[in-house]
Amino acid sequence: MKRREFLKSVAGTGAGLVILPSGARAGQTAPSNKLNVALIGVWGRGLAHQEAISSENVVALCDIDENHLDEAAVKFPKATKYVDWRKCLDQKGLDAVICCSPDHTHAFVATSAMRRGLHIFCEKPLGNTVEEVRMVRQVYKENRNKLATQVGTQRHANVNFNRVRELIRDGAVGELRHVYAWGNRKIPKPGYLPASGTPPSTLHYDLWLGPSPFHPYNPEYFSGRPGANCLNWNMYWDFGTGQIGDMGSHTMDLAWNAIDASLPTSAEGKGDPFNPEVTPVQFQATFEHPANDWRPAIGVSWYQGGAMPGSPKPSIDLSKIGHGVMFKGTKGFLIADFDSRILLPFGDQADMTYYNRRAADAIIPPMGHFQKEWSAACKGNLKTSCDFEYGGTAMEQMLLGLVAYRVGQKIEYDGVNGRITNNEEANRLLRKEYREGWKFDS
Ligand SMILES: NC(=O)c1ccc[n+]([C@@H]2O[C@H](COP(=O)([O-])OP(=O)(O)OC[C@H]3O[C@@H](n4cnc5c(N)ncnc54)[C@H](O)[C@@H]3O)[C@@H](O)[C@H]2O)c1
Repeated sequence: MKRREFLKSVAGTGAGLVILPSGARAGQTAPSNKLNVALIGVWGRGLAHQEAISSENVVALCDIDENHLDEAAVKFPKATKYVDWRKCLDQKGLDAVICCSPDHTHAFVATSAMRRGLHIFCEKPLGNTVEEVRMVRQVYKENRNKLATQVGTQRHANVNFNRVRELIRDGAVGELRHVYAWGNRKIPKPGYLPASGTPPSTLHYDLWLGPSPFHPYNPEYFSGRPGANCLNWNMYWDFGTGQIGDMGSHTMDLAWNAIDASLPTSAEGKGDPFNPEVTPVQFQATFEHPANDWRPAIGVSWYQGGAMPGSPKPSIDLSKIGHGVMFKGTKGFLIADFDSRILLPFGDQADMTYYNRRAADAIIPPMGHFQKEWSAACKGNLKTSCDFEYGGTAMEQMLLGLVAYRVGQKIEYDGVNGRITNNEEANRLLRKEYREGWKFDS
């Protein structure tokens, strides 16, 4: 039996107990039942994955910063070290990849990993352009019966996500009409950093730039604290998408989990005047979504950097909720952050008789540990809560908002073909150019 099938069959036993070839009994964490994992981007967000993955075989570490690699190698001394993720993915015997490198590499790493038959956990956002996230989704669709994927929106494991979904599905706000999500993070910058100094010999700057157009080295791109260094580069168009891909990924997830949406049919966006180097701080976008089998057509809006939806009551200051969502229905509002929620029926006398609270045995069970859901899925039924279809459509929607903002017009979207039907310039903005030597295989 091939190693991968063996891992699956081990998980399929349910109790996780199998008779190993030697005749010895062992559970899912026995050496032969472990995944061979590569960690790409080992510091920063990568540190948050090290503990979760330490019960598997971490056989490869990849980082463009050799100091970060050496630090990680203390914890995983047997792993082979790489500075180029393309070489890392070629290591023989790999089963799975965790990608924590910067946003402009995600779609490249994700598609390359899946094409090599590797399971992948990819940090949010899944890509920086509509073309990138669509390609990731496409490759996932071609391999979904073989591969487990997860987008790194780990707040999804908060039980509040389930409570919000139950309230919306069960009609606590009546029939759903519109969902508003917002975030208050602001990191204004004038433009790309000027050239300053030379990269240390241990930092492979050319590989950090990867597929992005060249920008001169400046140490400020690397001066943030672990897990927050993305805030030193993610606002620049060539490296990220600002708060859309940053907190937008997490906050839209809270809404997305409750509305069973796919791709929107239109997008509108407005915000700060366009800066060709830096994504907008203040920005808002609205999307139209078709009806599904349990709700009518709805609107979905995203606000950031000071733009906010109107509050349903003067006494409720929505801006006190840094990152939140609000669902508006025919009978009331539900306002939530990642951990809690407030239900606000219309009218002080509302009696909520329209709402049927679900039975205790129909409550959605907690999903458990977010990263471990994925590693168990790699060995088992391949099912995860934030797979590349779910997370990819959420991100595609958000990125369409940026395209609409750039053309300054409401765009009509044909999600089946990934085409904007009323603006040719907008179609050109669905993708970007890459540096010579880098090709995003579409
Ligand atoms: N899920 C979350 O809550 C969360 C939180 C923070 C960051 N993130 C995401 O994690 C990713 C990394 O963010 P960060 O703040 O850790 O950034 P970072 O700049 O600290 O980079 C993380 C690590 O990747 C390495 N790296 C950079 N380019 C690389 C490449 N081409 N190949 C391999 N390694 C490379 C860096 O040297 C560093 O060790 C981002 O995509 C960000 O959106 C997610």
